[in-house]
Amino acid sequence: MGITRIGVVGGGLMGSGIAEVAARSGIDVIVSEATEEFAGAARARIEKSVRRGVDKGKLTAEDADGALGRLRVVTGIAELADRELVVEAATENEQVKLALFADLDRTVTDRKAILASNTSSIPIARLGAATTRPELVVGMHFFNPATVQKLVEVIPSQLTADDTVARVTDFATGALGKTVVRAKDRAGFVVNALLVPYMLSAIRMVEAGHASAEDVDTGMVLGCAHPMGPLALTDLVGLDTTMAVAESLYVEYAEPTFAPPPLLRRMVESGLLGRKSGRGFYRYD
Ligand code: CAA
Ligand code: NAD
Repeated sequence: MGITRIGVVGGGLMGSGIAEVAARSGIDVIVSEATEEFAGAARARIEKSVRRGVDKGKLTAEDADGALGRLRVVTGIAELADRELVVEAATENEQVKLALFADLDRTVTDRKAILASNTSSIPIARLGAATTRPELVVGMHFFNPATVQKLVEVIPSQLTADDTVARVTDFATGALGKTVVRAKDRAGFVVNALLVPYMLSAIRMVEAGHASAEDVDTGMVLGCAHPMGPLALTDLVGLDTTMAVAESLYVEYAEPTFAPPPLLRRMVESGLLGRKSGRGFYRYD
């Protein structure tokens, strides 16, 4: 019998998408948020996205009700005690995640339950070391928007058991219909180690006055058939998350290509976080 009950910690951009994908696939899902206000926002985001699927003819109203009926959003992690798998998708901050993994280890009672992280760049070994079950801690990295992108990177640490890797791979491919690639436990794994330096280069280009944000993006969309340009993509990912990922990559490799450019820092410090705050390189209604 595969995994049928999961928890998702963090109901932001990624957590709400992961929860929606799982609930629409028949999984019982509890999303845990930090405060009642964030829990309300997560619930509203998921409901809106599921209803949009109905409007677009992607699922029936009955299936939408079924998915929403399988999904609860709560405050705190106490209700995750009976979960078989927890996917942590909280803010990309190592201290926050270390505290969460220690708490999850104490709270999730099934000693075979897997604690996975959707981190973009924090080493899985460090998260495992915060628990008493590093053999059950693994990276499970979804892509944004999680309802659309088909990839999941699975990242074992040196202590992750083969059985853990097999179970999350089965879950991602079998239950969720995603394609899995395996990556080593190095900051950025495969995709972000390649993608983030490209996004940072585009920011440096704008900062240097080499080209406007619009022209950089148009260049990559029309010149290279990317679905969106690197600055629109940075707005989609979140400038705060992009900066946190760049910092982890820079700490890991100490190469200038990974260093967050000053323009990115200043924008984050000014609250210009991209789509989620209504303004980044572009403005959003
Ligand atoms: N949330 C949920 N679904 C969304 C969405 C969003 N923000 N934006 C678009 N979609 C859905 C639409 O509903 C639509 O679904 P259907 O096909 O089922 O109708 C589908 O995506 C296509 O949307 P649109 O036609 O409106 O727009 P588009 O064709 O321009 O696609 C996009 C939008 C899917 C975002 C596309 O531009 C794209 O794939 N961009 C690249 C995204 C990317 O590179 N993601 C990876 C980021 S890096 C990462 O995730 C890792 C990390 O750790 C930071
Ligand atoms: P986000 O800022 O949209 O959401 C993070 C959520 O975590 C917030 O709603 C916040 O309230 C919640 N949170 C913080 N501390 C918490 C706690 N102790 N308990 C419960 N909830 C808590 O961020 P996001 O973009 O969804 O990123 C989440 C994770 O996914 C990060 O590790 C990020 O690196 C990773 N990720 C992001 C993307 C992306 O494109 N944004 C893609 C793949 C992976």
